[in-house]
Amino acid sequence: MAEIGPSLMCSDLGALREDINILHEGNVDFFHFDIMDGHFVPNYTMGTDMIKSVRYDTNLPFDAHLMIEYPERYIDTFVECGCDMISVHEEATPHLHRTLQHMKSTGVQTGLALNPSTSLNSLEYVGDIVDYVVIMTVNPGFAGQTFISSTLNKIDNLKHFINSNNLQIKIQVDGNISYDTIPEVMKKGANMLVCGTSCLFRQPKGLQQAAADLRQFTDRMKVKQ
Ligand code: DX5
Ligand code: ZN
Repeated sequence: MAEIGPSLMCSDLGALREDINILHEGNVDFFHFDIMDGHFVPNYTMGTDMIKSVRYDTNLPFDAHLMIEYPERYIDTFVECGCDMISVHEEATPHLHRTLQHMKSTGVQTGLALNPSTSLNSLEYVGDIVDYVVIMTVNPGFAGQTFISSTLNKIDNLKHFINSNNLQIKIQVDGNISYDTIPEVMKKGANMLVCGTSCLFRQPKGLQQAAADLRQFTDRMKVKQ
């Protein structure tokens, strides 16, 4: 089955706690926090204080997607504020191996995020450290963008790499994950779906119904093994 992770930057940030409670009841699997610094991506979102403020509203895992420069400087800060999973962008740090090793040493689920144009090559050297890979299916920085179809091939190649090297790495997809793209990405092997405005938030039917429908839809489909 695929795991559902609401992208909370798409939530009504003034009612974040309410949305988290609705989604918790809606059987989602983890919460995705998009962290932006205005440099690595031309946008700002939320920080560690906001994560801290809702940490005890749910026991579901918190996933921090760091779209920031020098992420290695902030790993401990995100661990301390209650994150269970952290992903860093390969394009954001010259010391990827050291950064991932440190993340692993803190006990968090260690994620490697790749922009649409970035290849899978580094996995040859850090595949034994990472727990999940984030395939950006849009260019990072904004919700509401259009799915980049060439990333489907990358998911396929990653699944092949994981299987042929007997690795235990989950595949997270992030960006315009919708009722149209979910079957495509799951057929290629994606098993963690970051869900934003394309299938969960800002839907006329409301968040509760959107969460229930999405859960039913994804549970009907199998992830490629
Ligand atoms: C974009 C973020 C995504 C985004 C998803 O940089 O990483 O998590 O919020 O939102 P939609 O589903 O609207 O693309
Ligand atoms: Zn994200």
